[in-house]
Amino acid sequence: MKITFYGHATYGIELGGKNLLFDPFISPNEKAGDIDINSIPADYILITHGHQDHVADVEAIARRTGATLISNFEIISWFANKGIEKGHPMNHGGKWNFDFGSVKYVNAVHSSTLPDGSPGGNPGGFIIESAEGNFYYSGDTALHYDMKLLGEYHNLDFAFLCMGDNFTMGVDDALIAANFVGVDRVFGMHYDTFGYIVINHDVAKAKFQKAGKTLHLLDIGESTKL
Ligand code: NI
Ligand code: MN
Repeated sequence: MKITFYGHATYGIELGGKNLLFDPFISPNEKAGDIDINSIPADYILITHGHQDHVADVEAIARRTGATLISNFEIISWFANKGIEKGHPMNHGGKWNFDFGSVKYVNAVHSSTLPDGSPGGNPGGFIIESAEGNFYYSGDTALHYDMKLLGEYHNLDFAFLCMGDNFTMGVDDALIAANFVGVDRVFGMHYDTFGYIVINHDVAKAKFQKAGKTLHLLDIGESTKL
């Protein structure tokens, strides 16, 4: 599995010979100015919720690549109305088998209005299970006790957790979330992009290390293989 960080909450993951792209928000992100959205591969674009900082580049990348969108029903319908008709609608607790593995749409505690004010359904996260490994992608969320349920009934290898605080859980709650979902390896997201969500990398990594866990805070454009 190859994991590439494109800034904010945007990750690309090569899995089962397919390219998954999560919550693409690149062209409006000044910190991701070196990333060309026209060079990002995508067979699937997974969208956790409707906020601008998660959907901004969905349309452009979907039109270029012909990727299939995976999200909640409301968001898939909103993009279908824009002419992006390759979409797979889901709702909370539902799982579907794709050619790269399975996707379950799970709870998040957040909001989800789309950029034009349309309702974006309820926000979510994803559990991905595949022959190459299982992981949780939290989306934007508060720490919540349902994460414990995810950990008890899924054998997760690692997780992508928001940790910038203010709009989502912060570093301390993300560490509790890592315990709840039962992972020792975490990739951070939703930090540093705006003034409200700047974190101290050394302090955050030290907190995870003290708990026997590894926190990856990749540079924008950096890839790692697991
Ligand atoms: Ni959000
Ligand atoms: Mn966000």
